[in-house]
Amino acid sequence: MKIPDSLFTDLDNPSRYLSWRDQKLARMPGSIDDYVVPVKDPVRLTDEEHNAIGGLIARANMALFVAQSDEKRNKTIPVNIADQFGMHQLDHNMGADHDGVSELTVRSGQWRGGYIPYTNKPIHWHTDGYYNEEKRKIHGMVLYCVQDALRGGENALLDHEIAYIHLRDSNPDYIRAFLHPEAMIIPANVINGNEIRPDRAGPVFSVNDNGALHMRYTARTRSVVWRDDALTREATTCLTDFLASDSPYILRARLEPGMGLICNNILHDRSGFDEDDNHRRLIYRLRYYDRATV
Ligand SMILES: [Fe+2]
Repeated sequence: MKIPDSLFTDLDNPSRYLSWRDQKLARMPGSIDDYVVPVKDPVRLTDEEHNAIGGLIARANMALFVAQSDEKRNKTIPVNIADQFGMHQLDHNMGADHDGVSELTVRSGQWRGGYIPYTNKPIHWHTDGYYNEEKRKIHGMVLYCVQDALRGGENALLDHEIAYIHLRDSNPDYIRAFLHPEAMIIPANVINGNEIRPDRAGPVFSVNDNGALHMRYTARTRSVVWRDDALTREATTCLTDFLASDSPYILRARLEPGMGLICNNILHDRSGFDEDDNHRRLIYRLRYYDRATV
């Protein structure tokens, strides 16, 4: 398969990469507060609100929006905000409702409860849909909080382009290893002898037709087989260490009712949480085959 030309895959042209990198780092927002855009009505953003969110996505692949929570429009809000950034093709993944929206909430006793997102347990660093095949790659994602937990349920967030920069600056060969089409294999999902999903091999980093960077990653060790090669091993260690570091680019956000995240499938994790009767955590998650258009 031919790899589209992009500064992310062109490892023989450091000057092209370095000028992008310097500009990117100079434009990155500073603190978590700089990522938050208060909006009056998320279903109809004003030009100013749209520009603020779009500007953040352009610079850092993500933005957080905050609005008054609105019981009647819980599902309308995330679908509409995504729509205003050109995200239309929803991934109808296994846990999603018929409309393609997943209700992330604790589901003990249901089949969904066998999957960590539907429990109160912590979720390690990943990008969404890392087990999807090429044509169902997740480029964009929206999270919208209807109800927060009593304690915990915080997300760590990291722009995947920053992870790329860290790896390439550490050793450009790490990028070469992560561009390999068999860098990461996700073994088949087999339940009671039925194969729900076959083995999926793929690169960690790839680019779409427009040259934009896509990342496929999970920090889980049980559900992934890395390519048996020294550089791949070093590259995964380099990434693991970076994700555990106190890098100022790693943000921590706790979504509260009315708050949401709109992003180009960046790296994220979730801490475990506790609930009580008035605090049953409910997050809507929407996965898109489109990147946000800004
Ligand atoms: Fe996720």
